[in-house]
Amino acid sequence: MKIYVPLDSAAKALGADEVAEAIVAEVARRGLAVELVRNGSRGMVWLEPLVEIDSGSGRLAYGPVTPQDVPALLDGTLAGLGPVEAIPFFARQTRLTFARCGVIDPLNLRDYEAHGGLAGLRRALEMTPAQIVQEVTDSGLRGRGGAGFPTGIKWNTVLGAKAPQKYIVCNADEGDSGTFADRMIMEGDPFTVIEGMVIAGLGVGATRGFVFLRSEYPDAIKVMNAAVQIARGAGLLGADVLGSGRAFDLEVRVGAGAYVCGEETSLLNALEGKRGVVRAKPPLPALEGFMGRPTVVNNVISLATVPVIFEKGATHYANFGLGRSRGTVTLQIAGNVARGGLFETAFGMRLGELVNEVAGGTATGRPVKAVQVGGPLGAYMPVSKFDTPLGYEDFDAAGGLIGHAGLVVFDDTTDMLGMARFAMEFCAVESCGKCTPCRVGAVRGMETIDRIARGDAAAVPILTDLCETMKLGSLCALGGFTPFPVMSALTHFPDDFATRKEAAE
Ligand code: NAI
Ligand code: SF4
Repeated sequence: MKIYVPLDSAAKALGADEVAEAIVAEVARRGLAVELVRNGSRGMVWLEPLVEIDSGSGRLAYGPVTPQDVPALLDGTLAGLGPVEAIPFFARQTRLTFARCGVIDPLNLRDYEAHGGLAGLRRALEMTPAQIVQEVTDSGLRGRGGAGFPTGIKWNTVLGAKAPQKYIVCNADEGDSGTFADRMIMEGDPFTVIEGMVIAGLGVGATRGFVFLRSEYPDAIKVMNAAVQIARGAGLLGADVLGSGRAFDLEVRVGAGAYVCGEETSLLNALEGKRGVVRAKPPLPALEGFMGRPTVVNNVISLATVPVIFEKGATHYANFGLGRSRGTVTLQIAGNVARGGLFETAFGMRLGELVNEVAGGTATGRPVKAVQVGGPLGAYMPVSKFDTPLGYEDFDAAGGLIGHAGLVVFDDTTDMLGMARFAMEFCAVESCGKCTPCRVGAVRGMETIDRIARGDAAAVPILTDLCETMKLGSLCALGGFTPFPVMSALTHFPDDFATRKEAAE
């Protein structure tokens, strides 16, 4: 019998280690022959710790499991959830990027290969660099960090740049509130990130890579470092990748926790040992990136999606999706929801279906008031926009953004003026200080919202003006996108601003 208990940090925060210890002790006491596997998470966070038992006829799920449940779990008397794949939240998904996450032992390369791992790289090794880049272009993959820039065009720019050394940088500085897809895949399927980086290196002619990983993710750091060691030992990384005569190696570098270091040029400065301030673009990192050399900077999910594109073919991937948003989106559902977690689906599902049906509405049972999509710089989407399909262009047209695909749900008790103030405060705290609209504007923004809260109606047009200035004049997305949450709160929930005014009058 095999028992799976996730090592994912969300599962651990909910008691997975204690459950694993209780299982080991009880199995020893009973003298049972059981193999305990610490897998990644299946992404159903409200069911964690989600334990799976495989007695030879499929994996049956139990959750949330406590250490006290373990005797009944082993007796077979604990009420279960049935096969994992049949749980409605899971059954509705299209898992391409996350296909192996939660299924395999994350640090078992043989398990990885047995589930399709390395098939993409083996195919890429038969291709020329131009063919590799063309495959990514044909898949329609766009940057999953937030900007949605076509990955194939980025790779092509680096491929065409002439330089003695090029680099692949994996942006694992996942800083958006309510997001965890990067962390979850690094903890649950680290080899897919490594494989994606190797394919990127072969495609653009880079032989070195870095994973820039935030210090707040100690478990992901541990798993990624262990995976890199195993990959080197197995010849997946090094001077002779899988005996091909081609070289690629990478190392994990840990960031110090600044949100702005998720911005690619600030990240590159930090990687070079400098202060994490934003660089002006141009030059693009694709032409002058790490140490002034052509560099692909891609988000974890973009790189982790590359292996499945090569394994199944660009057309297979591109056949999912909507309009120019091809493939799947790895949504992270958080906040006040009944069922939070990682939900991978083809682009095109409507926001309302996701929030009301998949996530089951709010955890408090109260009506949904707003959903912030795209992290702390994303717009608050009101219920009236719930028919917006998940797609880059569709969200743009609705005044929002998909960003890194995080969703934070709020119920009707939420004070939207307070949320607008929080956005300005977040920007003020995290600003790198390089440009005035952001450095000064965010502080003035907090003060202006405080004036509105005190009943000063004349401050509303000042806030609108300030947002326009920040949007147009900021050097990077931190200052430039902070107006999204602020203006969406003001536009869609004017009562929350007016109520304060009336109360003060
Ligand atoms: P951007 O639009 O300036 O650039 C997108 C990417 O395309 C960059 O890597 C850029 O270098 C590259 N690029 C543009 N033109 C190119 C060309 N001709 N050839 C090659 N490469 C080219 O956007 P930026 O500032 O990189 O990202 C902003 C986004 O980041 C926002 O949409 C926001 O949602 C997201 N974000 C994500 C966070 C997270 O935790 N994942 C945190 C904060 C923001
Ligand atoms: Fe720095 Fe803010 Fe300007 Fe970005 S917008 S460069 S974070 S000061």
